[in-house]
Order: sequence, then C-alpha cells, then structure tokens
Amino acid sequence: MQFSRSLLASALVLALAACGEAPAPEAPAPAPAAVPAEAAPEAAPIVEEQPAEAAPAAAASAKPAVVADCATTIEGNDAMQYNADSITIPASCSQFTIELKHVGSLAANVMGHNVVVAKAADVSGIAADGMSAAPSFIKPDDARVIAHTDMIGGGGSTKVTFDVAKVKDAGDVAFFCSFPGHAGMMRGAINIQ
Ligand code: CO
Repeated sequence: MQFSRSLLASALVLALAACGEAPAPEAPAPAPAAVPAEAAPEAAPIVEEQPAEAAPAAAASAKPAVVADCATTIEGNDAMQYNADSITIPASCSQFTIELKHVGSLAANVMGHNVVVAKAADVSGIAADGMSAAPSFIKPDDARVIAHTDMIGGGGSTKVTFDVAKVKDAGDVAFFCSFPGHAGMMRGAINIQ
C-alpha cells in the first residue's frame, strides 16, 4: 500500500509538472506587415475629360422657325408638336405673318392645331378659358390674345398676320396651340431682333 501510494504521488507530481511545463508557446509576433510606403501617393489623376455635355441648355431653342420676308411657316403634326420652338421677327418688319400647316392626318376635333400669340404670362389663362370654346378653343373676344389662326386638322393650313408693334409692347411673348392639353408641348417663344 505504501508503495503504490508513493507511486501515485510521483505520478501526480509528474502530471503536475507536465501540466505546468506547457506555457502556451508564445506565438511569435508576426513580423509587422511592411507598411506600404505612403498608400500609393501617386493615385493616377482622374483623366476623365467630361465631353462638353451636348449643351442641354441650347435645347430650349433648338428649332428656330425659318423666317423670310416678315413671315414664317411652321408645321404641326399628329404627335402634338410644332416643328419650331421659337420665332424671331426681324425688327424691321411692321407686320408679320405666321402660317401653320398641319402635316398630320388626324381631324381637328381630335388633334386640332392653331397658333395663338400672347404674352407668355397669359398662355395658361387663355388655354384654360378656351377649353370650353370648341371648335376654336379661344374664348370669344379674349383680349389677352394678340393674334391667332383658325383651328385646323390634318392636311389643313391657315395663317394670321399681326402688327409687330403689339408684340414689341407685350414684352415676353409666346405662340402656342390652344387645343385642350396641347399648350404644354406646343409652345414656343417669339422674339424681335
Ligand atoms: Co394642337
């Protein structure tokens, strides 16, 4: 019994020693990652030359009407568009004529077009008041209207002549179609130059 007891004791010592002898080997600190010299200071300069964005501002008046002899002819189509978004009247003209050709095929009660000349500030009011005034869609004797053509359908044409002085006196002047819902797209500026 004595023997086995001491055996047991030494076994215990051994075990303890073994236990204590194993200090977790210190993991050698990994060599500090070589810091890359100043995070690539020469980041290639951004060379993206922005292509001069096709001048979007110029689009506001990209389709000037062709004017000759104090007159112009503009077209309206079945897609609710004029082919011009501005008309420049020569200052030398005392009168000016706008002819409108409807190059589409839809009828006047479906896709009617006219040309109304008025102060830009009066466009929405004239259009609103004209909505119930079929078939011209201009309120009778609307004093805000400087000039206007008849309302026409596909294949038709019409024209109106007015005193340039009336436009000159009005300031910011526009031309538009008073058919219900058309003035938003069918509208342009009239300038005198
Ligand atoms: Co129209």
